[in-house]
Amino acid sequence: MSAIPFPRGKTRELPFPDWMRTVQTRIEATLSRLLPPAEAIPARLHQAMRYASLNGGKRVRPLFAFAAGELTGGSPEKLEIVSSAVELIHAYSLVHDDLPCMDNDVLRRGRPTCHVEYDEPTALLVGDSLQSLAFELLARTDLGSESANSARQLEMVRLLAHASGSSGMAGGQAIDLGAVGNVLDQPELELMHALKTGALIRAAVMLGALCGETLSDEARESLDRFAKRAGLLFQVVDDILDCTVSTATLGKTAGKDAVDEKPTYVSLLGLERAREFADELGKQALDSLAIFGERGQRLIELTAFITHRKF
Ligand code: IPE
Ligand code: IPE
Ligand code: MG
Ligand code: MG
Ligand code: MG
Repeated sequence: MSAIPFPRGKTRELPFPDWMRTVQTRIEATLSRLLPPAEAIPARLHQAMRYASLNGGKRVRPLFAFAAGELTGGSPEKLEIVSSAVELIHAYSLVHDDLPCMDNDVLRRGRPTCHVEYDEPTALLVGDSLQSLAFELLARTDLGSESANSARQLEMVRLLAHASGSSGMAGGQAIDLGAVGNVLDQPELELMHALKTGALIRAAVMLGALCGETLSDEARESLDRFAKRAGLLFQVVDDILDCTVSTATLGKTAGKDAVDEKPTYVSLLGLERAREFADELGKQALDSLAIFGERGQRLIELTAFITHRKF
């Protein structure tokens, strides 16, 4: 059991900001518990893993998993494990994204990036190790001991692996790096964003839902449609924030996409139309939730949060 109480049913009445803080606090505590202790050998690697994963981040992917868990009545104990797995993959993707051979960024979450605080080889190994830990967590016996649950657990591993690799996040990052200085058309840009960022958000939603009762095929398809639109929306807003918000607020270097000649929704459509597109994606995402009625409330609130966030 987790050290932080998270009574079932009670969280549904919380106002969104309180619910969000509750999940964020719970994820911070869970990650801290599950990551290797800082003093365990090899201590420098473990310290760097903790540096890259703790004390920062909005924890948006865990929020998506917990909100989707509301649809199926997933237990908080399972939700915290799948959320942590996705968050560890996300943290690894950021460490590698910031490396000199990729975006060459020195600031992340208001602090020096992992390779600046430690060194490049350590940052590489941090990414490797966070990824392995994520899959180790998904393979834990307390996620499913009966045979039906074991099949579901295998499905979770497959989902996260697909979302992380060359058909998901890593593939999107490859397209991103190959596209520097080029003009992508809208379908090409959508594919890049859907893979590099959308895939992990989609995995968070589906893994969260898989922590509870089985959804009908129709409900599962609706949820997947929601997750795809919300994932794309998240990166479109990231593009907008890069050129509209200060470095101090963002906690990462502002204006870098334009300097690095990255194709973004702002470079393709201009700021105003990128904003309109984000609003349109938000509406499409919400349309897909109609089937869930009141149970979709957290996902609705979360969609508003990611649309209107300031960092
Ligand atoms: C930043 O993700 C990178 C993208 C995939 C857009 P977040 O905005 O979720 O970063 P943190 O975890 O809150 O720092
Ligand atoms: C990052 O996209 C996507 C992944 C880390 C997979 P960005 O390069 O735009 O993310 P930030 O802006 O550095 O956070
Ligand atoms: Mg990048
Ligand atoms: Mg980057
Ligand atoms: Mg960005």
